[in-house]
Amino acid sequence: MKFKILLLGFGNVGKGFCRLLSEKRKILKENYGIDPSVVGICTRTRGNVYDPGGIDLTIFLNRTERTPLIPLKEMLGSKVMIPEDPSVEELVSKADYDVLAECTLTSLDGGEPAYGWMKKALERGRSVITTNKGPIAFHYPELHELELKHGSRLLFEGTVMAGTPVFATFLQGLSGSRIQSFEGVLNGTCNYILELMQQGKGYGDALEKAREAGYAEADPAMDVEGYDSALKALILSNVLTKKSVPFEKIELQGIRAMDPGLIEQARSGKGKIRLVARGRLGDNNSDISVKPEVLLPEHPLYNLPGAMNGLVFNTDTVGQVYISGKGAGSRETGFALLSDLIALFPGKRHFHPSVSVHKEQLISRRAHLC
Ligand SMILES: NC(=O)c1ccc[n+]([C@@H]2O[C@H](COP(=O)([O-])OP(=O)(O)OC[C@H]3O[C@@H](n4cnc5c(N)ncnc54)[C@H](OP(=O)(O)O)[C@@H]3O)[C@@H](O)[C@H]2O)c1
Repeated sequence: MKFKILLLGFGNVGKGFCRLLSEKRKILKENYGIDPSVVGICTRTRGNVYDPGGIDLTIFLNRTERTPLIPLKEMLGSKVMIPEDPSVEELVSKADYDVLAECTLTSLDGGEPAYGWMKKALERGRSVITTNKGPIAFHYPELHELELKHGSRLLFEGTVMAGTPVFATFLQGLSGSRIQSFEGVLNGTCNYILELMQQGKGYGDALEKAREAGYAEADPAMDVEGYDSALKALILSNVLTKKSVPFEKIELQGIRAMDPGLIEQARSGKGKIRLVARGRLGDNNSDISVKPEVLLPEHPLYNLPGAMNGLVFNTDTVGQVYISGKGAGSRETGFALLSDLIALFPGKRHFHPSVSVHKEQLISRRAHLC
């Protein structure tokens, strides 16, 4: 099955996704029966390109590595685009595509402008896959209504713990269960900084080390003030309850102005400090908090080295379910978009070759025994 992707954002995640599309083209076709092509790519500073015949991703990725700042249009060669210099809005509302892959920047400003683009695509009956936390944190119930109304789909695996399968776990693996609460360490940058602080570094030095290691942004507020964890907790609560909690209702404390007594408490009690996001999910309202806490060795989130993330679901069926994995990275988050893309076409899923070989071996072994 051939289908067309319009990609918004060609940064770490957008490039990671394109690399995986190139690398796994054969597997996508053979194992899942899908043959995607990217017809448009949009950025903020490098312009937008659109080629209904499909963009050659290998050329794009090679050239972008050599000359990262070159306008995308120059990489299309002599091909003329119609319209000539398309805006993101024009492409989202008029271009010929089947899936909008959205990975532009997360904003705390109501998730705009990505929220508007996603709404438009869903209204056109196009499916949306995204790693952008803003629209799902602030508008999930409304976007979910739109997907139901227009027969489109909205998937967002990469918004929490990158490509580590959070939503696949609870929407498929735990279907039929009630998730009563969750607790998670959802920001790798904070986890890394807190580990260094427990080893004796001051906050400033630990932040500098996190920058050097490529974990912290030049402006670290989104991470260290706890906003990133709060958005992820909001997304989990929105998706699990289909009701939204206002951002202002979250009890939110970051790690920048953390009570120094916590470090002492952790050391003397042999615990570890984590920035913990908690959600208690009720029928009518949910309570969400994000704050530094001391966790003892028996807690599942105690052992999370470096920038790892972890999440515990408390269910009414199988008790506690714990997932841990990487929560960031170009390939890891690009993979979230790829897994969402595959999930959009479940009817096309084929047996993985290794599974079918195994089956054939079993059949022939059984025949031999008979
Ligand atoms: N990186 C991760 O590990 C990770 C993990 C989980 C979730 N996420 C989320 O995934 C999204 C992308 O992250 P990233 O690391 O790829 O960010 P990034 O490297 O900064 O790339 C963002 C891309 O979006 C484009 N963009 C920004 N504003 C735009 C606008 N108004 N119109 C069109 N294009 C626009 C940028 O254009 P320019 O190229 O011109 O700047 C850039 O290509 C974010 O929402 C982030 O929170 C990232």
